[in-house]
Amino acid sequence: MHLRNTETRYGVVAQLFHWIIVALIITQFVLANKAEALPLGLAKLAVLAQHKSVGMTIFGLAVLRLAWRWLNPVPASPSDTPAWQRIAGSASHFLLYALLLIIPLLGWTMSSARNFPVSWFNLVTLPDLVQPDPTLYEWLRDAHAAAAALLFWVALVHAAAALQHHFFRRDNVLRRMLPMKLKDET
Ligand code: HEM
Repeated sequence: MHLRNTETRYGVVAQLFHWIIVALIITQFVLANKAEALPLGLAKLAVLAQHKSVGMTIFGLAVLRLAWRWLNPVPASPSDTPAWQRIAGSASHFLLYALLLIIPLLGWTMSSARNFPVSWFNLVTLPDLVQPDPTLYEWLRDAHAAAAALLFWVALVHAAAALQHHFFRRDNVLRRMLPMKLKDET
């Protein structure tokens, strides 16, 4: 297995970025739902602190992942992919990367606007991005929730498309993001 991407498949580093970020995004939704179900108090704040730390980890990994993508070739779509699917694929990937940066930044700014500090696993305290402002907090909370809902649906369509490639078109699109041999690979 290669560390770097090739023209036909993703390398180990890109695969690790992909699947670690998937696992962390699922964790984020679980933590957010857990926090929402709790009354305001220490238990809720502890869950939100975990949510913030995991969210900032996603932000850092997304930045590194984009840098790695820029330094590596992106494997091409199968040659028989219709133009509209290529365009839809590129647009959804762009949107996913944008949301992985925007959602944590909205969360971080929201916490500053509410005058709650953001720390990364109690190891580093991040600076406040804005002054406390209850009106701004409410706006950012709604924007954070809406962007997270959009991420949920785009990620679902993205996963469905990958499964459709694997089980119906029977091509290498999902295989090349997994430590699996490609079809016709010797
Ligand atoms: C990709 C990363 C993230 C995802 C997918 C995500 C997702 C969510 C979701 C689904 C909710 C519940 C929204 C609702 O329906 O009310 C939520 C709430 C929240 N998130 Fe995030 N989040 C992420 C990153 C962050 C970060 C980095 C921070 C802060 C540094 C943060 C801070 C918060 C806070 C404070 C709430 C509770 C808001 C309130 O009710 O006052 N999130 N998040």
